[in-house]
Amino acid sequence: MTMTNAGQKTRLAVFASGNGSNFEALAQACADGRLNAEIVLLVCDKPGAYVCERAGRFGIETFAFRPKEYASKAEYERRIVGLLDDKGVELVCLAGYMRILSDVMLEAYRDRIVNIHPSLLPAFKGAHAIRDAFDYGVKVYGVTIHYVNGELDGGRIVDQRAIYYDGDDIDELEAKIHAVEHVLYVDTVARLIGSRG
Ligand code: GAR
Repeated sequence: MTMTNAGQKTRLAVFASGNGSNFEALAQACADGRLNAEIVLLVCDKPGAYVCERAGRFGIETFAFRPKEYASKAEYERRIVGLLDDKGVELVCLAGYMRILSDVMLEAYRDRIVNIHPSLLPAFKGAHAIRDAFDYGVKVYGVTIHYVNGELDGGRIVDQRAIYYDGDDIDELEAKIHAVEHVLYVDTVARLIGSRG
């Protein structure tokens, strides 16, 4: 990945749809200097999602939109690309953004979009990965960070962490996985922006 403003804070956008704990992990790391970056925009496809409140607390600008109010995905993504371009965004981090991106976003930000997913991809893609893996009875869970392409949870893997769990409490398991996500996302973004050209 090639970034342009060596020496300055990297300009990030985060896309999220719900709770926003990964957004908060990234925002907190920017705020306390563990990440040499700034989140210049939160993009949220569910106005009223808790992530928007988190962004407010950090003073981070939010673009919250209702997809149904646009004629097509291409139309709202063109709007988003315009905002990202205006803000000089260099890296887009999907953090619980539950939508597949179209070519409008993928071509505008090629190789500059990453996603976090709570499984060891390519196992357990989709919106219920933790529940699906738990129901399957796996003993090794995990977290993946990957570049984003047009497939569900698809794209070249950047990093992964395995998590061993043999208990029967899905809430405990989820807490363990989310804790690993928050550390791995910050570490991976730090590595990606550190490697900028
Ligand atoms: C996270 O576990 C993330 O990995 C997952 O959504 C959750 C969002 O939590 N993403 C996917 O499942 C993508 N397919 P958060 O809103 O608290 O960050």
